[in-house]
Amino acid sequence: MKNVLDTRRRPLRDLRISVTDRCNFRCSYCMPKEIFGADYPFMKQDEILSFEEIVRLAELFAEYGVEKIRLTGGEPLLRRDLPVLVKRLSAIDGIKYVTLTTNGVFLAKYAKALKEAGLCRVNVSLDSLDDEVFKKINNMNTSVSAVLKGIFSAIDTGLEVKVNMVVKKGLNDQEVLSMVRFFKEENITLRFIEYMDVGCTNGWNFKDVVSKKQLFDMIQEQYQLEPVKQDFFGEVAKRYRHKGTDTEIGFISSVTETFCGSCTRARLSTDGKLYTCLFASEGFDLRDMLRSGASDGELAAAIQSIWEKRDDRYSEVRTEESRKNRKIEMSYIGG
Ligand code: GTP
Ligand code: 5AD
Ligand code: SF4
Ligand code: SF4
Repeated sequence: MKNVLDTRRRPLRDLRISVTDRCNFRCSYCMPKEIFGADYPFMKQDEILSFEEIVRLAELFAEYGVEKIRLTGGEPLLRRDLPVLVKRLSAIDGIKYVTLTTNGVFLAKYAKALKEAGLCRVNVSLDSLDDEVFKKINNMNTSVSAVLKGIFSAIDTGLEVKVNMVVKKGLNDQEVLSMVRFFKEENITLRFIEYMDVGCTNGWNFKDVVSKKQLFDMIQEQYQLEPVKQDFFGEVAKRYRHKGTDTEIGFISSVTETFCGSCTRARLSTDGKLYTCLFASEGFDLRDMLRSGASDGELAAAIQSIWEKRDDRYSEVRTEESRKNRKIEMSYIGG
């Protein structure tokens, strides 16, 4: 393995791959219905990286130190035969973990196949336990029970599950404590995500962010939390546990307590562009290289040189000015 460091001496360790830009939900903070409507130009089959192309690139990334792959989207379970991809990625030398982030609706159907294919962990997004609120968020009339069914199926097959809740003021902040109570009883890790200004379509406003501190204070009024030590360098969530238990609660505070200093993540978009930050405006077209016959050596050199030039730390330096730059949508760049 060749270790490669960026200009801030951060190694390359994680690769987030968006396997589809489509989703069966239209969450207002990610793919608002008014913009992602029936005539939205989603990518065509031939624009999307094939499994062969993804695996070839993942092998090269593994040579530069990538140990963890996270499959995202859009909704990754909309990609046909995803377990086949999981199996191939898990078999790559150096890849220790293949993980998935999903809205959970199709998880009951695929959990067993994913586990058998070598998937280690699943993060499931769920922003409310109240059907009315949840339907207002997903905009597809999907009930909470569909997601819970997915969560419990995954746990039953032996997959480790964490639940992600994006909190947006006035939308679902009143749901925080009932989420804490429910997932504490079920002994499932719950993580709160500060609403972020990803992409250009969600109309983000700082006033809608509920900060980690506000969330923490609200929870501490009713529950006793104690900090948990980081598992590895570059962990995204600040972790706590309910005192006297091993049930964890986490906070992903990319707006108010940034974590760019230890960011080891590269992102591969659905159509094969390499991005070195979630908030990037431009990516490097690896698909073009793949399809014009580049050798492994040439692809590897491109990856190395892009990482070595990397200087991103958007969350640390977010300003009104930088927020105006065109940013790539989250469903395309893979969360
Ligand atoms: P774990 O390995 O389970 O900790 O996964 P994760 O938290 O890295 O991934 P997940 O897909 O569950 O993402 C949770 C939230 O963290 C999402 O809102 C992501 O957009 C956000 N996130 C993940 N990586 C980064 C990052 O590098 N920068 C920022 N700003 N947010 C990130
Ligand atoms: N801010 C914070 N998190 C978001 N997610 C999607 N859009 C946003 C946003 N604007 C979350 C999803 C999922 C994860 C990949 O990112 O809910 O859990
Ligand atoms: Fe789909 Fe996840 Fe975006 Fe919601 S947040 S629209 S479930 S990709
Ligand atoms: Fe990494 Fe960019 Fe997120 Fe900072 S804002 S943690 S550099 S992806």
